[in-house]
Amino acid sequence: MRTLEELDLIGTRVLLRVDINSPIDPTTGLIADETRLDKSLPTIRDLAEGGARVTIIAHQGDTLDYHNLVTLREHAAKLSDKLGRPVGFIDDVAGPAARERIDGLGDGDILLLDNLRFLTEEVSTFESAVKLTPAEMTETYLVRNLAPLFDVYVNDAFAAAHRNAPSMVAFQEVLPTAGGRLLAAEVAALSSVADEPSRPCRFVLGGLKISDAFSMLRRVLSEGIADEVLTTGVVGQVFLLASGVHLGEGSERFIADRSLDMFVPEAAEHLETFPDRIRLPLDVAVERDGKRIDICVDDLPVPEPIIDIGPATMAEYEDAIATAATVFVNGPAGVYERDIGAAGTRSLWGAVAASPATSVIGGGDTVSSAGRFIDTEQIDFVSTGGGALIRYLSGEPLPLLVAMGIGPADGEG
Ligand code: 3PG
Repeated sequence: MRTLEELDLIGTRVLLRVDINSPIDPTTGLIADETRLDKSLPTIRDLAEGGARVTIIAHQGDTLDYHNLVTLREHAAKLSDKLGRPVGFIDDVAGPAARERIDGLGDGDILLLDNLRFLTEEVSTFESAVKLTPAEMTETYLVRNLAPLFDVYVNDAFAAAHRNAPSMVAFQEVLPTAGGRLLAAEVAALSSVADEPSRPCRFVLGGLKISDAFSMLRRVLSEGIADEVLTTGVVGQVFLLASGVHLGEGSERFIADRSLDMFVPEAAEHLETFPDRIRLPLDVAVERDGKRIDICVDDLPVPEPIIDIGPATMAEYEDAIATAATVFVNGPAGVYERDIGAAGTRSLWGAVAASPATSVIGGGDTVSSAGRFIDTEQIDFVSTGGGALIRYLSGEPLPLLVAMGIGPADGEG
């Protein structure tokens, strides 16, 4: 992948794709988390300071995420504050008004166009219904209108790498292309986990989004990426069920109501194939009469739903994290939003922060649970990716990486 260093920047018209898709506060309508804006700054700054004429394109929200489908005006104002230089904005994506503003940019100027997902071609329901190849996407409204106005396309949007959208994969067909700083850092950090992790490499998988955990499990176990997987949260409960433990009415109903019991046979298969590489909780916690009660797994079932891992599990997992050389964490250990269910998540994050291991985390829930208990600066790499990160670690081809020439196409790897 070509890097920014290889570009001649002065006077160059650069089209930069970033991922600044951010949660929007439903009450105020304002940006609620600025992490992705912050992570996009180095590339924008380096391009502008190098004298390029920078036009930024980005998406916000989606059809199924309609509450977040808002204009990027506030994003431009925030980028401007953070960079300490003006970031222009136009409420047009690729129409005549946008093109006129792009034409008027001088060296070092920055312009943000409006939300790409105001264009049908860029929403994910279009992607799944109309399956265009990158070459076919060069005929889309976006690419036809913007490509002729630029000398170079730079992509720095790792968090959207799983999207096969024109803004992500088609400009590479018609313009010289480079990867931005964040894209390079994400790929380097994630390949350090997936390709050549320092040993022992331990994955801590928990939380409620257990489809994410199961997408990764097969590959990381069968390809020997993870020497061990420590299971927590609902992932741990599904593995306990698969090992024949009867959890009790509350937890089993919770799991069945969300159809998460469909993962039990797959968990059982993993336990049979990799009996020494998957750790299960030794004890769990429930809420009884408003108090936290820790219960050894041998003493299950209990009627109350499980809300956390127990102290024996915490001690064992803390030790496993302290003696790992690589740790990847996805998902909290319990209902960390409530004090009564927070001890397990707190202990694991404390162990990750203190461990000499290279630590990599990602995913919205995971990062916000870490931020509640530790300074995330203590983590070696916090990925901006959610879906993109899971797919990367699951070994699924990512359309962006294929388009940038740094990932295997479908069926190749
Ligand atoms: C994300 O938040 O995962 C990325 O910005 C991609 O967003 P999307 O899932 O709406 O395509």
